[in-house]
Amino acid sequence: MRMIEIILKKRNGGELSQEEINFFVKGYTSGEIPDYQASALLMSIYFQKMTDLETVYLTEAMMNSGDVIDLSTIKGIVADKHSTGGVGDKTTLVLAPMLASCGIPVAKMSGRGLGHTGGTIDKLESIKGFSADMKEEQFIKNVNEIKIAIAGQTGNLAPADKKMYALRDVTGTVDNISLIAGSIMSKKLAAGSQAILLDVKVGSGAFMKTEEDAFSLARLMVKIGTEMGRNTEAIITDMEQPLGRAVGNALEVKEAILTLNGKGPDDLYQLCITLGSELIMMTGNAETRQDAIDMLQNSVNDGRAFKKFAQFIQTQGGDINMVMDPELLPKAAYVLELKSAGTKYVKSIDALGIGNCALILGAGREKKDAAVDLSVGIYLNKKVGEKVFPDEIIATIHTNDLAKGEEALKKLSDSYCFSDEEVTKNRLIHGLVTKDGVKVY
Ligand code: URA
Repeated sequence: MRMIEIILKKRNGGELSQEEINFFVKGYTSGEIPDYQASALLMSIYFQKMTDLETVYLTEAMMNSGDVIDLSTIKGIVADKHSTGGVGDKTTLVLAPMLASCGIPVAKMSGRGLGHTGGTIDKLESIKGFSADMKEEQFIKNVNEIKIAIAGQTGNLAPADKKMYALRDVTGTVDNISLIAGSIMSKKLAAGSQAILLDVKVGSGAFMKTEEDAFSLARLMVKIGTEMGRNTEAIITDMEQPLGRAVGNALEVKEAILTLNGKGPDDLYQLCITLGSELIMMTGNAETRQDAIDMLQNSVNDGRAFKKFAQFIQTQGGDINMVMDPELLPKAAYVLELKSAGTKYVKSIDALGIGNCALILGAGREKKDAAVDLSVGIYLNKKVGEKVFPDEIIATIHTNDLAKGEEALKKLSDSYCFSDEEVTKNRLIHGLVTKDGVKVY
């Protein structure tokens, strides 16, 4: 087989066979196929698209390019939730201990990654001493003993995707639905969970800007997971405005702790209940949806979910004092306020704009391996639909650098849009995709 023939076949609109896709993925990962040929194929895929079957073959080949984690020694059906990424998305920090406190094993591999704020691991590292570095045996032991472990992705999980994603990033070939679905699913499948729930975000702060694209991506990822023998579903959720009120690593951990204590923002709590009850149903741990919702709500109301979070942090080396008193989490040196000039309603908050504020402040990374400042971020006192009065604080910027803080404050102000009339809130849940079909809400 020759790479030039595979490129020509795709360039001319043909459908690649499993052998051809395996040849490309193996050859590219090992370095036998050079970047320029891989780029030509990726660009051909970008324009000619891939069929669902080709996408399944690509995902399988990328999954098998490295370690495939075996979680069969964990008791119970292992659940995983994956978000396609959004601004202020700290769902894992809340949902994972809620599920674990209901007896559902959560064995999660999380990343740092690129983004407006750090990934789940960065956020957790706001807690002094917390470590996501552990061997597979320790990971499995923790899940068996306390039902929850969150580990950093091993270097050898889907290495083909790692190399290809980096190439896509610099060749204008990221935003193709088949390539995105294959990239995400190869890592999720290699991480070993039997039940996978995908939280596909839609809106200005998400990868998928339109409902049509979000549903297409969800449908394709559910198809791939199902074809690969995993119980896979997707929920499409809103990312027109940030999730919750806190954006930034330590600020988000504090908000997650409040939510686990029943005092967090309603959208974050409701999203956790929706995703969690779906996962409880998928893993057969409740007979009815209402039972699943009750299980989760009770876990928060009687303090078990918070206790589980504390136990999980302590098991992974984190300072329990910071969990018990989140005021001890890293704090920025300066707090700048955005104040209201009149009486009005918040009409919209551009999630991407807020994400860019976080980047200016140093909460996230634009380049792999860049350092993140765990203490900085934005707090949104007012969200869509809420009324503001003259001189009231709309939002605050938490910064260690006043010049960057002023730049972010200007962007923050531009991200808010107001109305004199009352405004209806955004819909949080847009729909559900299962192997049996699509429900639009
Ligand atoms: N996230 C991934 O892991 N891969 C993509 O291609 C896009 C988002």
